[in-house]
Amino acid sequence: METAKAVKARDSFTTGLGVIAATLGSAVGLGNIWKFPALTGLNGGAAFIIVYLLSTLMAGLPVMIAELMLGRRSKSDALTTFRVLHPKRETWSLIGAAGVLSAFLILAFYTEVAGWVFAYIFKAASGSILSADPKVTSAAFEKLIADPVQSVFWQCAVIVFVGAIIVMGVAKGIEKTTKRLMPVLFLILVMIGVRSLMLPGAAQGLDFLFRPDFSKVTGAVVLTAMGLAFFKLSVGMGTMITYGSYFRDDQNVPMTALRVMLADLTVSILAGIAIFPAVFTFGFKPEAGPSLLFITIPAVFSQMPFGNVFVVLFFVLGAIAATGAMLSIMEVPVAYLHQRFGVSRFKATAATGILLALIGSTAALSNSVLANFKLFGMTMFDLYDFLTSNLLMPVGGLFICIFVGWVWGEQKVRGALSNDGRLQNSAVISIFFFLVKYVAPITIGVILLRGLKII
Ligand code: PFF
Repeated sequence: METAKAVKARDSFTTGLGVIAATLGSAVGLGNIWKFPALTGLNGGAAFIIVYLLSTLMAGLPVMIAELMLGRRSKSDALTTFRVLHPKRETWSLIGAAGVLSAFLILAFYTEVAGWVFAYIFKAASGSILSADPKVTSAAFEKLIADPVQSVFWQCAVIVFVGAIIVMGVAKGIEKTTKRLMPVLFLILVMIGVRSLMLPGAAQGLDFLFRPDFSKVTGAVVLTAMGLAFFKLSVGMGTMITYGSYFRDDQNVPMTALRVMLADLTVSILAGIAIFPAVFTFGFKPEAGPSLLFITIPAVFSQMPFGNVFVVLFFVLGAIAATGAMLSIMEVPVAYLHQRFGVSRFKATAATGILLALIGSTAALSNSVLANFKLFGMTMFDLYDFLTSNLLMPVGGLFICIFVGWVWGEQKVRGALSNDGRLQNSAVISIFFFLVKYVAPITIGVILLRGLKII
C-alpha cells in the first residue's frame, strides 16, 4: 500500500486532444478579442501583423516549445523544474519565482476584465446595456467600473469560479472544461464573423484591420508586438512549463506548440473580422482596450437584427476565452504550492485565491477609489498590464532561452524533443535549437532595449 501511494501517478492530461484543448485554452483568451484586433488596427494593420508574426516565430514559439519541453522533462511546477533539471545552481529557479509573480500581476487585471465580461452576459441578457447610442452604453460601463462594490464583487466571483474548476484537478477540472468549451468558442466566433461580414461596412472594417502602414511601426510598436506575442502564447512566466509537466510522454511537443500557435492566430484574426466590419458599418471609431469591448460592441451589435442575441453570444465567447486562460495562469502558483509544500489542491487554490483577491482589488478599484493612485503615471490596472507584457514576460522568455541554449545544452534538448529517440524530427530540433540559442535571445534583447529606449 505504502509503495502504491508513493508512486501514485501525478495528475495530468489524459488524451492528445485534451492536451491541445488545454494548451489552446490557455493561449486563446481576452488577448484575442481585446488586445489583438485593436492593437493591429491602431498600429499599422498588416504591417503590425507581420511584426507580430515575426516576433512569434523568432521568439514566442521557441520559448513556448522550450517551456513545454522543460516542464515535461521535470514533471514539476515552474520553480521546481529548474531545481530538478539543474540542481547545481539554485538561482535558475528565480525564473519560476518571477513567473509566479507575473501570474499574480496578470490575474490581478485579467480577472477584473473577465469580471466585466461575466457581468455583461447578464446585463446583455436583461437588456440593460443595449442601446444604439454610445453615450448610453458608455454611461452603463462607467457606472459598472466606477462602482467599487460591483467591481470587487465580479472579480471575486470570477476568482471563485476559476478556483472551483482548478480544485477539481488537472484532468477532471482543466482538461474536461477546456475540451468542452473550445469547440463552442469556435462555433460562436464563426457565427458572429459571418454575421459581421454580411454588413455593408465589411470592406472598410477589413481594410482597417489589414491595410499595411509601415510608417506606424516604431520601436515602441515593435515592443508592443513582441509583448503581445508573449502574452498571446502565454509564455515567459512558467505557464507552459506547468502545462508541459502534465503532457504525456508520447506527445510531440514542437508540433503541438505549432498547432496551438496557428489555431490561436486564426482566432485572433476571426475576432478582428467579427468586430471591425460591424464597427465601421455603424459609423463608430475603432478604439483600443476596454472601451471597444464594453462600449462600442453593445452599441454596434444592438443595431443589427437579432443584435441582442449576438451581444449575449459575444460576451459568452469572451467568458469562455477568459476562463481557459485564467485556469492556466492560476495553475502556476497552485501547482507550486501543491508540489513544493505538499498541501492539497484545495488549500493551494484557496491561498492563491485569497492573495489574488487582495492584489486584484488594487486593479479593480483603479477606476474608482484608487483612480488617482498612480505609479509611473499609470493606474495599478495599467501598470500590471504594462509590467507583465512589456517587461516580465519577455525577460522571463530571455532567461528561459539562455537556460535551454547555453546551460542545458543541445544533447538534452535532442533527447527531450525526440521523445528519447522515438520521433524522427532531428531537422525540426536543429531549427529549434538554433532559434532558442541565438535568434530568440538576440531578438528579445534588442527589442526590449529599443522599446524601453535604452538603446
Ligand atoms: N494568452 C492569454 C490571452 O491571450 O488572453 C493570456 C495569458 C494566459 C497570459 C496565460 C499569460 C498566461 F500565462
